[in-house]
Amino acid sequence: MPFWAPDIGIDLGTENVSLYVRGRGVIISEPALVVLDRENRHSVQAVGDEAVFLLGRSPNRLIPVYPIKNGQVADFDIAELMLKYFIRKAIGVSYLGKPRVILSVPCNLDDVNRKALTEAIRFAGAKHVFLVEKPFAAAIGTGLPVYEPVGNLVVDIGAGTTDVAVISLGGLVVSQSVQVGGNKFDEALIEYLRKECSILIGNQTAENIKKDLATALPLEESRSIIVRGINQLNTSAGTVSFSSSQAYDAVKGPCAAIVKAVRWVLERTPPELAADIMRGGIHLTGDGARLFALDRYISENIGIPVLLARDPGDCCILGVGYLTENIQLVSPQNKRSSKPTFA
Ligand SMILES: Nc1ncnc2c1ncn2[C@@H]1O[C@H](COP(=O)(O)OP(=O)(O)OP(=O)(O)O)[C@@H](O)[C@H]1O
Ligand SMILES: [Mg+2]
Repeated sequence: MPFWAPDIGIDLGTENVSLYVRGRGVIISEPALVVLDRENRHSVQAVGDEAVFLLGRSPNRLIPVYPIKNGQVADFDIAELMLKYFIRKAIGVSYLGKPRVILSVPCNLDDVNRKALTEAIRFAGAKHVFLVEKPFAAAIGTGLPVYEPVGNLVVDIGAGTTDVAVISLGGLVVSQSVQVGGNKFDEALIEYLRKECSILIGNQTAENIKKDLATALPLEESRSIIVRGINQLNTSAGTVSFSSSQAYDAVKGPCAAIVKAVRWVLERTPPELAADIMRGGIHLTGDGARLFALDRYISENIGIPVLLARDPGDCCILGVGYLTENIQLVSPQNKRSSKPTFA
């Protein structure tokens, strides 16, 4: 039996969880979802991919729970249980020593929430927990020179949060985290269809519309799709034609909130680093950044080139993975907001 468990990196997102095992790479990438029995809420039926599978087959008997909301623990017991499941799935149980875990967290997370996340990971089986800010990890994952004396601006747009940070010399110089992301786009579409088209749709339909039709800038030629939902007026099933210009109107608010956060960070960035950012551009990571034309929208509003990472949703776990392979970089002596910290 091997003595020490390998070090593990975790990107614990609002919608997706990824685990990186030292020496092996990313070996888990699944929804951050647990399903419970409706009759007996203490009975966990499935976690991750299996939970999605089960939910699709017997939705009436099950309650879906996303234990992480906006990067914070929303349900401690379920979060612990989910993490225990993923850690076991990643490395098994045949070790005498517990693993060290590096976990990505939103920037500016308060001490209470940092402690809650750390405890959840400890109870799930970790020996030591190191926290690292998401945009720092995402910057490493997208290949930026974070340890050099140059300014890098990263905007990580997930499902629950958008984390904006200027990074230089291995630390965050200015950062901001706002609770805007893919979920807010979905909510904006649901609200627009309810108010303007009198049609009620669910989260899954909203997410599909977001991916197929929504756009951060108006299209030259508007296109339309048929949306199915419940007609609010007579509560029967109904359809409505929904255009890309309506979808653009619907998501305008959350797009503007992201630009506001980027502007806030830039206004507080030292001039030398701002000059580097003008040259190097703004780097978008996180799968929420895949909203059509969001890169151009940010660029047009801020006046700096914007580059969407190749696989935006993987950047954070790849960066966490790099730190897992080079765990000496995550040192307890480092200051909280300037480098990964020991908790
Ligand atoms: N093609 C696409 N267009 C628009 N949005 C997309 C696309 N693909 C995925 N998304 C959205 O990206 C979001 C998930 O991104 P990601 O996995 O980076 O979030 P997360 O890490 O779970 O959340 P967070 O970091 O906020 O806690 C979801 O809201 C999803 O609907
Ligand atoms: Mg994320």
